[in-house]
Amino acid sequence: MPPASTAQDIPQRNSNSHADDLARIVSSSFGAQEAGTSPTASFHSYPNSYGAGQRPSTKQLKPFHTKDIKVLLLENVNLTGQAILRDQGYQVEALKTSLPEDQLIEKISDVHVIGLRSKTQLTASVLKHAKNLIVIGCFCIGTNQVDLKYAAENGICVFNSPFSNSRSVAELMIGEIIALARQIGDRNNELHRGVWNKVSNGCWEVRGKTLGIVGYGHVGSQLSVLAEAMGMKVIYYDVVNLMGLGTTAQVQSLDELLQQADFVTLHVPELPETMDMLSTHQFAQMKKGSYLINASRGSVVDIPALIKASQDGILAGAALDVYPNEPGGNGEHFHNDLNSWTQELRDLKNVILTPHIGGSTEEAQSAIGVEVAHALVKYVNLGTTSGAVNMPEVTLRSLTMDEPNHVRVIYIHRNVPGVLRKVNEILGDHNVDKQMTDSRGDVAYLMADISNVNTSEIKDLYQSLEDLGSRIRTRVLY
Ligand SMILES: NC(=O)c1ccc[n+]([C@@H]2O[C@H](COP(=O)([O-])OP(=O)(O)OC[C@H]3O[C@@H](n4cnc5c(N)ncnc54)[C@H](O)[C@@H]3O)[C@@H](O)[C@H]2O)c1
Repeated sequence: MPPASTAQDIPQRNSNSHADDLARIVSSSFGAQEAGTSPTASFHSYPNSYGAGQRPSTKQLKPFHTKDIKVLLLENVNLTGQAILRDQGYQVEALKTSLPEDQLIEKISDVHVIGLRSKTQLTASVLKHAKNLIVIGCFCIGTNQVDLKYAAENGICVFNSPFSNSRSVAELMIGEIIALARQIGDRNNELHRGVWNKVSNGCWEVRGKTLGIVGYGHVGSQLSVLAEAMGMKVIYYDVVNLMGLGTTAQVQSLDELLQQADFVTLHVPELPETMDMLSTHQFAQMKKGSYLINASRGSVVDIPALIKASQDGILAGAALDVYPNEPGGNGEHFHNDLNSWTQELRDLKNVILTPHIGGSTEEAQSAIGVEVAHALVKYVNLGTTSGAVNMPEVTLRSLTMDEPNHVRVIYIHRNVPGVLRKVNEILGDHNVDKQMTDSRGDVAYLMADISNVNTSEIKDLYQSLEDLGSRIRTRVLY
């Protein structure tokens, strides 16, 4: 009796012994393997597209030889992420540092999955050696370190974790709102220099004050809940109409927000439209004696205009966590050669400067480990690309235990006219239960679940897709 829940990934064409691998894996899929019991079963479940009613238990699509999946983790990826990947049975090698390019090229040549943080550079010249690589996990926010286009064009999906640190940023904002209102930064500096300066003038409670949040996304909305709990009135401005949490209220323009708020915090993405979003005109709209906090991106605030607003007394204080130019590493780098106004900024009263630490907490690192590792497992086992940064986002509900002779076909291809007709000619010989396709730029991703296919049909299906001129990568999971 074939096991119902086993699944496998047919290796891609550039595998050294493709025909042998294919034969071995196809035949072994009907061997004596036990049904896989994934520790991550909960996230494999998708909404039932059949609607209400009792649904058969979910079939865990999983590479048949999980030990064949090789994972290289660099730069001390959090243990939470390592554990999730090891629990899948993958071969995981975890290194504490990044690797020099020659060693990286050697290591990357046979791994299926690589995880990294911000230091490892996955350029096209490195990635071209990654013959088996199907997915990259950036265990961080940014993805600049990866050549995303080259990866997509070679069928390598990239994931990151943009939102795992939202709470950490929101909490820092709360700390800074109080610190600015009480001039804690200046008192702290003075006392470190031996100066006792007990003052109450210009120091305030935050209760009853108005917080204006610009950008009501992951960070902004978290912050609003915390601020209301401290008795602040919260208003927000966002380009999208959003329902506010608690009793917060959306205002219709940035100027309106600036005119009302005692504290303004910025949580917008770095976009051409958000460049210098707070400049001379906007500072002129702000209440005299108000405060500004920027932990979004350095390009969002015109810093010379901020310095002027501070010197003119419009701002009673400011906190900055991000800067137009930031140093590449830790050390004594915060000088005028980094940004021409650095010394003027450092000299301002009641201005808190932090080195881009908004999201830097142990909890955020742990959450990043979980989020990215789950995305990698879902991609390896199920082929779903939800949250991918360089591929179209495609997902299908899971196969069930009642569907033992089904396969999931994934066909990553160049987005050229006529390709879907050719693919559907191949798939059309079988019963396609469900299918989804989407494109992003030049690359398209097709996922289809096909029923009642036998071993030789799977081989033919795979080979026919591989032979199409548009093919970037074919995967068959069952
Ligand atoms: N300092 C740090 O360490 C740190 C950590 C995490 C995030 N961030 C940064 O914080 C910012 C917010 O992050 P997030 O996770 O909340 O992002 P998000 O995408 O969840 O939310 C951004 C919000 O800004 C809104 N928006 C976009 N353009 C706008 C505009 N022109 N005017 C008003 N609203 C606009 C969007 O509609 C969205 O609601 C990002 O720039 C992110 O890079 C910094």
